[in-house]
Amino acid sequence: MLARLANKRIVLGVSGGIAAYKSAELVRRLRDAGAEVQVVMTPAAQQFITPLTLQALSGNPVHTDLLDPAAEAAMGHIELARWADLVLVAPASADCLARLAQGIANDLLSTLWLATKAQLAVAPAMNQQMWAAPALQANLAVLRARGVAVFGPAAGVQACGDVGEGRMLEAVELAARCADLFETGSLTGRHVVVTAGPTREALDPVRYLSNHSSGKMGFALAAACAEAGARVTLVAGPVHQPTPARVRRVNVTSALEMLAAVEQAVADADVFIATAAVADYRPQQVAGQKIKKSADTFTLELVKNPDIVAAVAARTPRPFVLGFAAETERVLEHARQKLERKRLDMIACNDVARADIGFQSDDNALTVLWSGGEQVLEKASKSLIARQLVQLVAARLAEEDKAPQA
Ligand code: C5P
Repeated sequence: MLARLANKRIVLGVSGGIAAYKSAELVRRLRDAGAEVQVVMTPAAQQFITPLTLQALSGNPVHTDLLDPAAEAAMGHIELARWADLVLVAPASADCLARLAQGIANDLLSTLWLATKAQLAVAPAMNQQMWAAPALQANLAVLRARGVAVFGPAAGVQACGDVGEGRMLEAVELAARCADLFETGSLTGRHVVVTAGPTREALDPVRYLSNHSSGKMGFALAAACAEAGARVTLVAGPVHQPTPARVRRVNVTSALEMLAAVEQAVADADVFIATAAVADYRPQQVAGQKIKKSADTFTLELVKNPDIVAAVAARTPRPFVLGFAAETERVLEHARQKLERKRLDMIACNDVARADIGFQSDDNALTVLWSGGEQVLEKASKSLIARQLVQLVAARLAEEDKAPQA
């Protein structure tokens, strides 16, 4: 299942062999499945295919030199080694396999191979006679014994005219083998859109209306969804939070901008999670110049902002919609009303009257409601609460998949 590649970080090592032309398509296949790809080429590989081709296809600069200060400053070999979930060498030439088996670190690829904790894989490609050579097979046995996955080779007509074993597997087959190395998460194959943080509604060029939302809960949810294998788009209001790993972030300021970004992102979404504290109202007019102080009282005319979560819930087809409710009294009763009024699939309620959890806090406690069910998530860190909530969403989605379609 190629969906397992979503969000995965793959270093593709390309060594010198005619099959290097297939690496170009492999990069395409991996990226189409949602993986991020960094390409490392040996000097010999560059005789067969240009770094520019693989740079264009991978969307990242190609790494070629171990001792290039400029490249090391951008993403050094140790950083690259740490970044990867998988290092796949395709094609892996006989020479390259020998160096990998012996632990020789004389270029960027072989050094990175030693420096990484990632899963390792090779896709050998060479002449059938070389493939059959005892020295080659001995090197391969060493690699296999160390847990390296060996993909192929296939048999058939070779570039040199021989017929036999040694052809590199096709890109589509290699992508499938890579996917098999990863586990299926509870949200694998799903696209999740999350809103987070406050919105800012401008009064004039220097002033705005807003609230104290920190964005912590939404960012924790985005991270938990990515961890569960989902492709995640995080639409964030103005907050000081680092973007979680493997999450695509879209920054917005106002409620209208947030709505526009959500409308764009949600078209192919399976799940929409609305944690943002969207301003209910915005100034009817935004002054072009700074408003001067004059009279003792000042009246501001406000207009209602669109309800983003309700707009998403009104779409057909619609994703699974999880909303939040921050209530100070009759918490569950109000939340259940909100669930129905906004046509949500699930609602997570905060008791904001409690001083120890909520807006700026690192902890939270929630009661989660859906039609026919309820679950209390006891006080815990927002990242733990987020993981528990993601499991509840995943369980509901799995139920929906089982239910006959209306
Ligand atoms: O109506 P209330 O603001 O209490 O509803 C809270 C829920 O609705 C949250 O999930 C919040 O993200 C969402 N919401 C929204 N757009 C608004 C107001 C609230 O998406 N304009």
